Amino acid sequence: MADTRITVAIDGPAAAGKGTISKAVAKKLGFAHLDTGLLYRAVGAKVLAGVEAVEAATSLTAADLEATNLRTPDVAQAASKVAVIAEVRAALVDFQRAFARRLGGAVLDGRDIGTVICPDAEVKLFVTASAEVRAERRYLELTASGHDVSREDVLADVKARDERDMNRAEAPLKPAEDAVLIDTSTLDIDAAVAMALTAIMGKTGR
Ligand code: DC
Repeated sequence: MADTRITVAIDGPAAAGKGTISKAVAKKLGFAHLDTGLLYRAVGAKVLAGVEAVEAATSLTAADLEATNLRTPDVAQAASKVAVIAEVRAALVDFQRAFARRLGGAVLDGRDIGTVICPDAEVKLFVTASAEVRAERRYLELTASGHDVSREDVLADVKARDERDMNRAEAPLKPAEDAVLIDTSTLDIDAAVAMALTAIMGKTGR
């Protein structure tokens, strides 16, 4: 319905399937979708290009979100590093909250959507999978898009990001108390999306 303001918050670690589930759910419900990791990746990419982190976050533009290198492993690590800085996170809050309350409904995926950005979200999902399964998925994705990486390096990267994202002082990655947990370790995409839609239906009647 066009006048809805439902917010669906989807959090979880790297490569758990959040992005795929979020896109599918948003499409199915006709909601807008924001991949909040892209904001941190854009800040990380600017830092790699020599801009100071807080300056990069406060001056972020739509064009920065279209940089072509945002999906690379180097930018992912840089994103995870800038994401520990409280001023960086603070600079990105208003944009995310405004997006969450837009007319027509919104799906936001990230690490702290259900806990910090949208604690009142109508639906909160926490999507996870074992580190090995996530690393294997990321390895297949990266090699398919032409990146020359090893399985060992991808697993080490995933674990380093988990460690940093879960143990930072500011908005650490963790499930909200009222989040529905979806473990995608042994689920294919269709099954994971079906579980997400069932959880949303349970909370909102849609
Ligand atoms: O979802 P992603 O892999 O694109 O996110 C990249 C990094 O950005 C992630 O390692 C931590 C940070 N991030 C965050 O701190 N909070 C969010 N809401 C989204 C991402």
